[in-house]
Amino acid sequence: MSSSTISWNNPKEVPQVSTKYRNIQTKIPVPESIPLFEELEKQEARSMHGQLPVVWDRAEDFQVFDKYGNCWIDFTSTIFLANSGHSNPRIIAAIKEAADKKLLHTYTFANEYRIEFLKKLIGMTPPYLEKAFLLSAGTEATECALKLMRMYGQSIKPSKIKIISFRGDMHGRTMGAEMLKGDPKSSAWIGYKDPNIHHLTFSYPWDEREFKKDMEELQGKDGFDADDICGFIIEPYQGWAGKLFEKEYIQALAAFAREHGSLVAFDEIQAGFGRTGKLFCYEHYEVEPDLVCVGKALSASLPLSGVLGRKEIMDLPAAGSMSSTHSANPICCAAALANLEEIEGKNLVKESERKGVILHFRLQKLQEKFPEYISYVFGKGLLAALIITNPETRQADGARASRICERAMQKGLLLVHTGRESIKMGPPLTILDEALLEGVAVLGECFEEIKKEDQKAP
Ligand SMILES: Cc1ncc(COP(=O)(O)O)c(C=O)c1O
Repeated sequence: MSSSTISWNNPKEVPQVSTKYRNIQTKIPVPESIPLFEELEKQEARSMHGQLPVVWDRAEDFQVFDKYGNCWIDFTSTIFLANSGHSNPRIIAAIKEAADKKLLHTYTFANEYRIEFLKKLIGMTPPYLEKAFLLSAGTEATECALKLMRMYGQSIKPSKIKIISFRGDMHGRTMGAEMLKGDPKSSAWIGYKDPNIHHLTFSYPWDEREFKKDMEELQGKDGFDADDICGFIIEPYQGWAGKLFEKEYIQALAAFAREHGSLVAFDEIQAGFGRTGKLFCYEHYEVEPDLVCVGKALSASLPLSGVLGRKEIMDLPAAGSMSSTHSANPICCAAALANLEEIEGKNLVKESERKGVILHFRLQKLQEKFPEYISYVFGKGLLAALIITNPETRQADGARASRICERAMQKGLLLVHTGRESIKMGPPLTILDEALLEGVAVLGECFEEIKKEDQKAP
């Protein structure tokens, strides 16, 4: 694995672009934006940096605008959030109406926005998801799932506190979430390991796994009793690579969990609300989870996350013992209600499935054309990732992936820059077919140009 960042202080002369959906009229990054990035460098912790150096001024539907006259087709949805389109007018109207009502906050005191929103949310999700707990950040939702799984386990026996997660999954940045991730680098700061969190290896084509074998290995460890597992938590596709599991793997996991009385939680914070062509990505595996973590595209705008689940699990914590000051903020609930209405009303889940077929077909063609650069195309629906390799060594190539993201930005296309050997794409589900095709064509131009440069290089 190699990683790379894209510089913000080196504006480059780039060809001007003017199409129906893109407009690039300045050097990129825009020279006038440099003082703003300097200010951010000065004022803000560096851990917040690393994204493409574009200063967003306005984002509408599937386009992002800066104030210097440039406009991009957005394949990021601000990191899988704006599924119903940036600045969706229905969401804006709902936010304005709620603000004008003069009810900016209620903690967990009742308000009608929360009630209406919950009715909608529970009503549109599968019937076994009977209750919800609302929070603000995704990481709070995964921490909440962790707590519920352990409370559930302890309600059976004190030793039932083992949690199984997948190495490299993303569950957030707070302590429990980073422990679940099991990446020695990102959890080194914690200073110790939770002996009751165990990690399985994610199944990639280059490291194919079989659930049964992995569990046998784990069970072979001294003192490991599978009946002590209170729950499994799964990112339905591994974030950085957009790779889904094989269906058989997850079905074997779910069967094992049932056999041992363990819960199954899916972290749908990135994958939920139509991203992969189903309301939730786990539906591709035809299993029924006990808990589902949601966030990001739940509101498509304001900070709102949650955990959904079966009544008897959701009601384990006593009244008042699990709370969050900003959870169920009326304005967030109003925005999320409008968002869910929009997802339903515009049939966006089906749209994601339909447009996903177009996107993946085109990306496959791109892979056929540039097999030396694109080793895999992963994803489903309007979620896609290309795994980039060095054409000579055939090794993962984060630096080239960054070069392609940078080139695309210069041409008016925003891709998800992972800093790794993947290029991720997740346009708003509202994107027009024509703009989707234009975006993929731009990506093709980037590969073409990079290949020419590589051929010229000594
Ligand atoms: C799958 C998944 N879980 C959890 C999180 C954390 O969400 P948040 O950044 O809102 O805390 C993310 C964020 O990227 C995510 O992709």
